[in-house]
Amino acid sequence: MNIILMGPPGAGKGTQAAKLVEKYNLKQISTGDLFRKAIKEETKYGVIAKYFISFGYLVPDDFTIQMVEEYLHENIHTEEFKNGFILDGFPRTIVQAKKLQDICDMFDFKIDAVINLDIPEDVLIKRLSGRRTCEDCGKSYHIVYNPPKVEGVCDVCGGQLLQRADESEEAVQVRIDTYNKQTKPLIDYYQMKGELINVNGDQTMDQVTQDIYDILDKI
Ligand code: AP5
Ligand code: MG
Ligand code: ZN
Repeated sequence: MNIILMGPPGAGKGTQAAKLVEKYNLKQISTGDLFRKAIKEETKYGVIAKYFISFGYLVPDDFTIQMVEEYLHENIHTEEFKNGFILDGFPRTIVQAKKLQDICDMFDFKIDAVINLDIPEDVLIKRLSGRRTCEDCGKSYHIVYNPPKVEGVCDVCGGQLLQRADESEEAVQVRIDTYNKQTKPLIDYYQMKGELINVNGDQTMDQVTQDIYDILDKI
């Protein structure tokens, strides 16, 4: 089963992807995480992505698509992918969505569901301002909604919990505006293709998870 998980910044894509990985043993492909790893390792993708990400802009399409293609080439035949994958944060533009169709044909797989986490803007800001991310394993927390057992320390690996570089008030606003301009049109795109499934993202984490399980259990 291959899924696209869509939604604005802070909608809960990463949080829900982790739940789907647990239940269905799918592989999560987060382009945001791939870029952050590239930045840390100072690869060619990292050097360019760093600038765009820190201001809250999208990384240019050509570059993003090239990274995703390369990643799939190297990983799609590995054991981790045998039950399918979740695309978290890709595609994010119409150009990327069209290219994804070509990539599907190239690697001979299909997308089974496009899940859109629907959520009002004021909730996003609260979620992003309280998020803390483990610098070692990438697990995300929220200081109010999903706190770690010990403040500032990851429950899973003991790593330090930090705010992401794109979590300043200005960058968050740019990310939301960028989403509205460049990514929101994908909702209509997938709706017209008859593939879109909306989920109310403004519920408790468990309730959102349950709604997604109910959808995917029928596939
Ligand atoms: P990316 O890393 O994908 O960031 P994003 O889309 O802005 O989304 P987030 O990861 O911030 O939020 P999320 O939806 O995963 O929410 P989370 O589960 O963490 O991308 C970063 C940047 O990389 C982009 O800005 C761009 O520059 C670049 N990039 C990435 N992909 C690209 C692409 N395809 N093309 C071009 N550029 C690209 O939850 C948020 C918080 O809320 C957490 O604290 C969580 O604990 C809490 N929370 C979650 N669910 C709930 C709930 N139900 N109730 C209460 N709290 C909740
Ligand atoms: Mg995320
Ligand atoms: Zn950790």
